[in-house]
Amino acid sequence: MTDIVLATRNLKKAEELTRILADTSIRIFTLDSFPDCPEVIEDRNTFEGNALKKAIAVSQHTGLISVADDSGLEVDALGGAPGVISAYYAGVNATDYDNILKLLNKLKDVPDEKRTARFVCCIAIVFPNGVQETFFGYVNGFIGREIRGNKGFGYDPVFYPSGYNQTFAEMTSEEKDSVSHRKQALLKLKKYLQNYRR
Ligand code: IMP
Repeated sequence: MTDIVLATRNLKKAEELTRILADTSIRIFTLDSFPDCPEVIEDRNTFEGNALKKAIAVSQHTGLISVADDSGLEVDALGGAPGVISAYYAGVNATDYDNILKLLNKLKDVPDEKRTARFVCCIAIVFPNGVQETFFGYVNGFIGREIRGNKGFGYDPVFYPSGYNQTFAEMTSEEKDSVSHRKQALLKLKKYLQNYRR
């Protein structure tokens, strides 16, 4: 059994990773098992930089293998914004709704064909000996003109994944998970861990 600490206190992320790694001999812990682990400030200007920063800090603190993720939305018409600041696009205390309103407002004069966007997820794994790897997952789509659906979180109510006429917030979590950026990155991590264990 290999132990991995997920550099998050978010139970939903831990459950998703545990589900995906269920058929491997990997045991997942979260930071709830390490209450003294210092908070890591996500101040890098790339998803990869932030994910690595978190995983390195947690691996160094715990002496265990650590996995961290960072994700966000890149909108082409905004030069890739909100990107790494997706969670606080409209300000440090912004709600998901505030962020969506700011995004819709910025895009109000942008025609439909130029409203392309993608969600990006980077997952970093760091070993106690300092070895590190990163894995990316993407889902392409476009930004609608109004809020639709009430499931999910973040920008889900305005994001239409390519090939669907529903937003992420109108899909069940299973439907969203099957195409999500996080799932794509997690599957790459899983493949890596299966090879690593051989
Ligand atoms: P984090 O990587 O979980 O901290 O997510 C960063 C931010 O990106 C979130 O607060 C959301 O605003 C946005 N985001 C990341 N993934 C998703 C998603 O699957 N749906 C909607 N918004 C997302």
